[in-house]
Amino acid sequence: MNVDLVVVGAGFFGLTVAERCANELGLRVVVIDKRDHIGGNAYSSVEPETGIEVHRYGAHLFHTSNKVVWDYVNTFTSFTDYRHRVYTTHKGEVFPLPINLGTINQFFHSAYSPTEARALISEQAAEGAVATVANLEDKAVALIGRPLYEAFIRDYTAKQWQTDPRELPAEVISRLPVRYNYDNRYFSDTYEGLPVDGYTAWIERMADHPNIEVRLSTDFFDLDQEINIRDTVGTVPVVYTGPVDRYFDYSEGPLSWRTLDFEEEVVQTGDYQGTPVMNYADTDVEYTRIHEFKHFHPERDYPADKTVIMREYSRFAEDADEPYYPVNTAVDRERLLRYRERIAEQPNVIFGGRLGTYQYLDMHMAIGAALSTFENKLRPLFATDAPA
Ligand code: FDA
Repeated sequence: MNVDLVVVGAGFFGLTVAERCANELGLRVVVIDKRDHIGGNAYSSVEPETGIEVHRYGAHLFHTSNKVVWDYVNTFTSFTDYRHRVYTTHKGEVFPLPINLGTINQFFHSAYSPTEARALISEQAAEGAVATVANLEDKAVALIGRPLYEAFIRDYTAKQWQTDPRELPAEVISRLPVRYNYDNRYFSDTYEGLPVDGYTAWIERMADHPNIEVRLSTDFFDLDQEINIRDTVGTVPVVYTGPVDRYFDYSEGPLSWRTLDFEEEVVQTGDYQGTPVMNYADTDVEYTRIHEFKHFHPERDYPADKTVIMREYSRFAEDADEPYYPVNTAVDRERLLRYRERIAEQPNVIFGGRLGTYQYLDMHMAIGAALSTFENKLRPLFATDAPA
């Protein structure tokens, strides 16, 4: 095969590596993906009836405080000035998230100042605190008190995990931010926005290089391919961004994931919910949230009488499901350690991305990690092993 590097997975990690190696080092790179499109989970496409861009694997909001990543991504796309905000419906009433002074005052029908609200939540947190934190509920109550926990965290978490929070480990949450002002911007990063002409246009530009060949609908583990990509391991370096347990045929046991189900609908109304994302905090609504995609791009000329919504349901992933969020139980962590030992025995394969490292990565983290992999591993590797 006339190639210097094989990249498995055309998500942000794989494409960043491919783009850097092609542009900076002049390497010939083959990128394969088992899906029929590039972009991994950030892929978006246009819903044909409405012309509205839909993020196919759930809403993707770009945000980062990493200047290197921001400068890098801006070489492929410019960004709108979109600022993400989320609301939640609880008992028939809509509240702003993350929990802030607006949420607190609306919930307690009050007009607390920041100092008064802080004192109230500290008092409620102290009242609810137990000597030994045994589960997620104990921890959440100790952080924000029982009333806010029961309204905004308990049932939503139960829906996300299909598990009573009293049976979930405390470490599922590390903190529950409460803002004692009226700032309801969801992210607090320095840079934020959405790609002006969509995710797919951005991602296509990353792959648009004569030295990069992208092969779609090509599974690394499919031994019947025209050219067996797996045979390349041992002949050229491979960057692998698929699931780490799958690479080793699950020899140390499968790692557990949560998955999402999406239910898309075109609704014959100009505006369904008035905001991009509405969470549903209570268990009487089965889905966790509804996305309404036209609100991500108010600057676009979208139809005034139609909209696209997507209901999101969360559950544990089974064999054939898309892995989305690592569950990360104690058993998973033990297995991951054993997989890492096996990775160390594979000098010709670099594992990266969220599936290859079994960790949730935002887009900017996946891109940042790929830039580091390029600088710290691939550049030195090819400096000593220059392609013919
Ligand atoms: P990614 O999963 O994108 O790509 C891996 C690719 O490998 C896939 O295309 C897969 O098909 C391919 N592959 C796997 N096995 C293979 C095999 N055997 N052979 C060939 N190809 C194979 N981030 C953010 O910054 N803001 C946000 O709002 C969101 N929102 C969000 C919502 C949801 C529901 C999810 C699951 C994730 C997000 N993200 C996010 C995270 C974002 O999607 C993530 O950072 C990137 O997808 C990571 O890129 P990777 O390249 O690591 O993986």
